[in-house]
Amino acid sequence: MQSMQYNIVEYDDSKHREQVIGLWQGVFGYGAAHNQPGVAIDKKVENGDGLFFVAEKDGEVIGTVMGGYDGHRGWIYSIAVRPECQKRGVGSGLLGFIQSKLMELGCLKVNLQIMEGNEAVQEFYLANGYSVEQRVSMGKKLY
Ligand SMILES: CC(C)(COP(=O)(O)OP(=O)(O)OC[C@H]1O[C@@H](n2cnc3c(N)ncnc32)[C@H](O)[C@@H]1OP(=O)(O)O)[C@@H](O)C(=O)NCCC(=O)NCCS
Repeated sequence: MQSMQYNIVEYDDSKHREQVIGLWQGVFGYGAAHNQPGVAIDKKVENGDGLFFVAEKDGEVIGTVMGGYDGHRGWIYSIAVRPECQKRGVGSGLLGFIQSKLMELGCLKVNLQIMEGNEAVQEFYLANGYSVEQRVSMGKKLY
């Protein structure tokens, strides 16, 4: 399919909030309270690291990506493209964009996690130069 013209801009809560929540509700399942879109957005905005971006076309949000950098590893979160805009290079564009932002911060390696049940998305990351690493991922809720 033909590639698409769009801009990547930093997330602006006053402009993008409702559309981002709508996009995420459509493409991600939200079982856990700590993952509710509004909470995730508020926490990221509060953090203020400037690593939350949206892809816009004609003023509409068509994609999102979040990054994180702790001085050791970079992380990529919440990459999503509106279903009707997928397979036109927007996801790869967002991935390349956040990678370059992390590199500007001195980040040497980036990691990401794929939720159980969404393994098919590996193809997207493999096509963008990622490889599967043998790790056991663990987590703990703090609240
Ligand atoms: C993953 C996602 C962001 C990819 O966005 P996209 O804009 O469709 O990606 P691109 O068009 O840049 O795809 C680049 C390449 O990745 C591969 N790819 C992308 N989506 C794929 C899919 N669903 N199945 C297999 N390969 C896929 C293809 O090789 C594609 O190249 P091609 O179109 O020339 O064949 C999008 O599918 C999405 O929003 N999915 C739902 C949310 C999600 O699961 N996010 C990831 C959380 S870990």
